[in-house]
Amino acid sequence: MQLPNLVPIPELYVSYDSAQKLKVEAGELPSWDLTPRQICDLELLMNGGFHPLKGFQTEADYDGVVENMRTADGTLWPIPITLDVSEKFAGTVEPGQDIALRDQEGVILAIMSVTDKWSPDKAREAEKVFGANDLAHPAVNYLHHTAGPVYLGGPITGIQQPVHYDFKARRDTPNELRAYFRKLGWRRIVAFQTRNPLHRAHQELTFRAAREAEANLLIHPVVGMTKPGDVDHFTRVRCYEAVLDKYPAATTTMSLLNLAMRMAGPREAVWHGIIRRNHGCTHMIVGRDHAGPGKNSQGQDFYDPYAAQELFAQHQKEIGIEMVDFKQMVYVQERAQYEPRDEVTDGATILDISGTELRRRLREGLEIPEWFSFPEVVNELRRRYPPRSQQGFTVFFTGFSGSGKSTIANALMVKLMEMGGRPVTLLDGDVVRKNLSSELGFSKEHRDLNIRRIGFVASEITKNGGIAICAPIAPYATTRRAVREEIEQYGAFVEVHVATSLEECERRDRKGLYRLAREGKIKEFTGISDPYDVPETPELRLDTENVEVDHCAHQVLLKLEQMGLVAG
Ligand code: PPS
Repeated sequence: MQLPNLVPIPELYVSYDSAQKLKVEAGELPSWDLTPRQICDLELLMNGGFHPLKGFQTEADYDGVVENMRTADGTLWPIPITLDVSEKFAGTVEPGQDIALRDQEGVILAIMSVTDKWSPDKAREAEKVFGANDLAHPAVNYLHHTAGPVYLGGPITGIQQPVHYDFKARRDTPNELRAYFRKLGWRRIVAFQTRNPLHRAHQELTFRAAREAEANLLIHPVVGMTKPGDVDHFTRVRCYEAVLDKYPAATTTMSLLNLAMRMAGPREAVWHGIIRRNHGCTHMIVGRDHAGPGKNSQGQDFYDPYAAQELFAQHQKEIGIEMVDFKQMVYVQERAQYEPRDEVTDGATILDISGTELRRRLREGLEIPEWFSFPEVVNELRRRYPPRSQQGFTVFFTGFSGSGKSTIANALMVKLMEMGGRPVTLLDGDVVRKNLSSELGFSKEHRDLNIRRIGFVASEITKNGGIAICAPIAPYATTRRAVREEIEQYGAFVEVHVATSLEECERRDRKGLYRLAREGKIKEFTGISDPYDVPETPELRLDTENVEVDHCAHQVLLKLEQMGLVAG
């Protein structure tokens, strides 16, 4: 007899032959290029991960989900699954029409029969679903700043799965997992949802949870979209693979879930339960602050740490999956083993390393003890997060024309090359204008474009572990800030204001441009007839008057040393 959790679950795909036909027909339809989040949602709609949903939610379903976690027919569903589009696209579609849904390369994945089109009240959605209309919540920020203003709803006809090139063997649809469990004779399966690397404490708690539930264990990490700033999934999956070897053989497996998380805490926990039930699991581990988004704009937690467990417990019968409590495991020094924190009552020494402390140790290349994590996991994290002195960074000089930016930048480049270790690229103002921005002039719009191009190249260099030295005028503070934000995703951004006064630059007038600017022969000249926003808080301000170039470059080097970017 087959267990109900392991019988095949309905999918929204049509047969191969119909798919071929539909693909041709869909060529004629208006098409929507799906966003990365919509691709994740669509994949789980089509493969049964979001069963019993049959498409993107209609307005009535959405209203019910937002208000009371139920679609119009009363089915428990805590998170809106809607197709958000632009006004422009919405203007081309009317209910009753079919549209083609394509991935970012234009491949047709599905056809949607649009039944509903409406403009949602996003503030209400934020309040009800995420608990607050507060932009510090990543999903609320997404709702207001990334999601389109119009929602479309209607059933989906699945043509093909989104293509994944990475970790193919580790990705399973709900039916593939159900078949796998059937094949191995696994009847009770505990799912462990995660978006973080696993360390020893996680291995202990998951193994213990499975043992207590007398079940096998499914490590089910999310690789779709998680919280901004999380460790990327490539690194995490390599870490998970290393940890998988630490479980007794045949007790545990791992599968990757292409879910786009919303970090909706309690509602998200219920959603995760439904998704795991659809993947054939009978139990799920729900811990403190499950899928919590961190602090709100007042510095407080968005959700009570036990709210997720409470909401899950209220609904677990209906979800069809049992909650397994997550015991916080800590290392007890005297006994050299992990124990549940609430069971250590004898005053023994508890050791723990927080996420923040782990990041600090990685950044500074400090020891990460064996009791905390597995050496293979630490190695992977060290490869991904080398100490600052091995990471890429950008030095961004800004100042008037003739202030000495290029000369100091050149001297700095030579000094860094003498030290060796990382490739150094100089993006000097004049050189960039010759090679990257030859068609641009000096209007605000063109200057911004020029600086953004420099920022893009510098961010790529920084991402790949190199040193980028930029030396444009970059007169606008907002543009400099945008470049900083782009680069700081990958490494440090060191702004150096070359603070030579306008009078001194004009007195030197090396290129004779100031004279021409004064005579009105060059228009929009920075400092003369165009603005320059003096940096308010640069990492370093250089006074160049009566100071040797060599000394200026040396000051930058000292700053880099002080920031840990070059070894002392
Ligand atoms: S910006 O504002 O950052 O895009 O400027 P940048 O790319 O650094 O280019 C500045 C160099 O172009 C020459 N030049 C001018 N500068 C300022 N204003 C006007 N109108 C202008 N016209 C030409 C000038 O030589 C600058 O070179 P540097 O190396 O800064 O002296």
